[in-house]
Amino acid sequence: MTFAAWLRSLPSLTGAASEPDTAPLPASPEELFERWIRHAVDAGVIEAHAATLATVDAEGVPDARTLILKDVGPAGWAFASTRTSAKGAQLADRPAAALNFWWPPVLRAVRVRGRVVEATPEDSAADLAARSATARARVAPGDWVLWRLRPDHVEFWEGAADRRHTRLRYDRVGGEWTHHQPTRPATT
Ligand SMILES: Cc1cc2nc3c(=O)[nH]c(=O)nc-3n(C[C@H](O)[C@H](O)[C@H](O)COP(=O)(O)O)c2cc1C
Repeated sequence: MTFAAWLRSLPSLTGAASEPDTAPLPASPEELFERWIRHAVDAGVIEAHAATLATVDAEGVPDARTLILKDVGPAGWAFASTRTSAKGAQLADRPAAALNFWWPPVLRAVRVRGRVVEATPEDSAADLAARSATARARVAPGDWVLWRLRPDHVEFWEGAADRRHTRLRYDRVGGEWTHHQPTRPATT
């Protein structure tokens, strides 16, 4: 079997579609995200707060890595790292990013895109202080930064057993959130 054939033989979308969510859609994507990630954790998803963070380097080449989501709210989607990391340099140069979550057991994914702002030094210090002593010991003074991604677009993707997957997209228009289902169907 070729490697390509072997890859193709691996199953995907093996999780169980969630029960239809009959609660009204919240006004903001942050509220729906909290509902979804709590549901994912209750359904047994491990490390549901781990996400792929994509940034862009000075040449315009995307970069991506896994990190931990620290908070979500009106101020943004928070994550932390060192200023001297590749992502730190990329964000200083181009303060925009995307976050991607994929929770296989519940067939749900969330995509977040927008501008990134640095949190206050106090918030960065508080995040560092909340880390373990071992983790803190590896960070140089002043190097730890909490950033907040302030999204303009958030997409909630939900897989279905019949492959009629759905997408719900929130867009920030004139400072207000609107939501709609994209006309192009979700594909896999
Ligand atoms: C599950 C998981 C969680 C991680 N969480 C973080 C994190 O919160 N912050 C961080 O800087 N790196 C985290 N990392 C390490 C990053 O993926 C990455 O290797 C590191 O930040 C260097 O990335 P960069 O060179 O693109 O800046 C995590 C890795 C994994 C696998």
